[in-house]
Amino acid sequence: MHHILFVCLGNICRSPMAEAIAQQVIDDHGWQNHFTVESVATSPEEEGNHPHPGALRVMRQHGLDASAHRSRPITAADFDWADTIITMDHANVANLQRLAPSAADAAKVKLCLDILPGRQGQAIDDPWYTHKFELTYQELAAAVPAWLTALQ
Ligand code: 4NP
Repeated sequence: MHHILFVCLGNICRSPMAEAIAQQVIDDHGWQNHFTVESVATSPEEEGNHPHPGALRVMRQHGLDASAHRSRPITAADFDWADTIITMDHANVANLQRLAPSAADAAKVKLCLDILPGRQGQAIDDPWYTHKFELTYQELAAAVPAWLTALQ
């Protein structure tokens, strides 16, 4: 079983969308025995909050329901649980490198768009600021299945 942890700043926009997309891919392919996915925040700011209404709306438009999700900050147990940690932007990477309990945990941290040819080193911008929730969905819908295929 490969454990994938999606991480962003607040765990109300990008990482819950990534988790929902990944779960849909897993369900569609019957990969439930191969992957478990989760999502968390680097910040405790939004702890207990449901996904942003813009994220919920775009997910609904694409047949995904993440309304039961609640934000929570990453813990040492999450670092230990995860085999791969997929994060959205360079601030997320820097925060996770700082928070990682060990060098082995820090080495699990990947930038989401690095899996797509031509997008290496690029960030998935925060829709909390850009309000471009559909663009965020499209970027995640391209990258997340590519990660699952690569890690399969
Ligand atoms: P996310 O978006 O990291 O994609 O969940 C954000 C959510 C909340 C905040 C920032 C980004 N905030 O500052 O509260």
